[in-house]
Amino acid sequence: MDTHAPDIDPAIAARYGSSFVAKDVPDGTFPAAGMPAGEAMQLIRDELVLDGDPERNLATFVTTWMEPEAEQVIVRNLYRNFIDHAEYPQTAEIEQRCIRMIADLFHAPGETTGARTQGSSEAIMLGALSLKWQWRKRREADGKPTDRPNLVFGGDVHVVWEKFCRYFDVEPRIVPLQEHKFTIGPEDVERHVDENTIGVAAVLGTTFTGHRDDVVGINDLLVRLKRDKGLDVPLHVDAASGGFVWPFLYPDSEWDFRLEQVRSINVSGHKFGLVYPGVGWLIFRERADLAEDLVFYENYLGKTDATFTLNFSTGSAMVLAQYYNLIRYGREGYRYVMEMLQRNARVLAAELDAIGVFELIGAGEEQLPLVAFRLAEEQNYDEFDIAWQLSAERGWMVPAYTLPPNAEHVKVMRALVKETLTRDHVRTLAADTARACVTLQKKGGAHVSERQRIKTGTGY
Ligand SMILES: Cc1ncc(COP(=O)(O)O)c(C=O)c1O
Repeated sequence: MDTHAPDIDPAIAARYGSSFVAKDVPDGTFPAAGMPAGEAMQLIRDELVLDGDPERNLATFVTTWMEPEAEQVIVRNLYRNFIDHAEYPQTAEIEQRCIRMIADLFHAPGETTGARTQGSSEAIMLGALSLKWQWRKRREADGKPTDRPNLVFGGDVHVVWEKFCRYFDVEPRIVPLQEHKFTIGPEDVERHVDENTIGVAAVLGTTFTGHRDDVVGINDLLVRLKRDKGLDVPLHVDAASGGFVWPFLYPDSEWDFRLEQVRSINVSGHKFGLVYPGVGWLIFRERADLAEDLVFYENYLGKTDATFTLNFSTGSAMVLAQYYNLIRYGREGYRYVMEMLQRNARVLAAELDAIGVFELIGAGEEQLPLVAFRLAEEQNYDEFDIAWQLSAERGWMVPAYTLPPNAEHVKVMRALVKETLTRDHVRTLAADTARACVTLQKKGGAHVSERQRIKTGTGY
């Protein structure tokens, strides 16, 4: 390694540019001495050139653009530790306002509670922990065993649900997908629910195809089980992506606290809440749905502070940015943005369909603003090859992946439509996809070495 580069005179380098242009970057050992601030900044900027361009990342659900005023709010508040409620009471109040506003959006019937989290993963861990604690309390009150809790969800959930089960010792009861059915409904859930079920999780806007589970059907099943068998099983809705989409695109579709058994909901502020990562929200139907034992009360500087979180110190900037968006856009603004995204998603879907080789997945159903598609017939190339060709020719990151069991033979491509994907980009992406198919038809699929570089995960 050429880390020392003794032949470069630092004084001359400082005069004419960055000495790191012709030197290896610090890596591995703790640097013996530092470098000028400008060089450090330049070095990082140069490194990141090798990352994908977030604006062409159509795999991610996460926000890639915010207004300059929102960015000012973020930059001016990077130093404000969110957990210091005693020192920053107004920031804590703004968190509570966000919780109340989102609870209102989700039709909470009255006073409620919730938490700001790092994203939906933390919100799901906390929400599912509360389900476990509440179930245990009920079982103990009835003098029944509490050693075999289970949680029911479909194969269409995000990996965090299985992670919760492993970390917190709960049996996962996973309903497999089917050949032509990529979400779950009451008929799939019923046989898995018993007295040890801490809850059922349903998804609003799956990571795989952007559709929703049959939340109404699952709720009705749980209401029936409560009435006929005395089994009171709560329903948690994972609305990581859908929570800021459904209220605006499908306001009459019931999936939230309008349904009796829905006791808690998580949503990622950094997805269609239109905030940069990381902020998420956990909202309970009523105060009583949060297991009191999970709240920690501390006496800090003479004031009692309640915390319900897996982390401690963290930034305030994204909470403030979420509040900025809620008051800046309101219902009207969010509806406008979501409708624009949906329009562009529909144009993209129509243009991809017109290429003549694709089948759209679940177009016309309630869906996130995205296009999920696959090859309609066997070709001499597949979806993974198209993903490769698109990234090689134009830098588009459109993921290809297989669905979870029992639909693992189904290959899917999926393009997220976010605010950074303009109509012009939509048309370019469709034309690039058509061109990629023509190229692949002539030359066949990607080479083995190219295949290894294809983006194969779903993206988040
Ligand atoms: C349905 C669903 N649930 C949970 C998550 C995890 O969310 P986060 O990345 O905010 O932790 C995702 C991420 O894509 C998701 O799509």
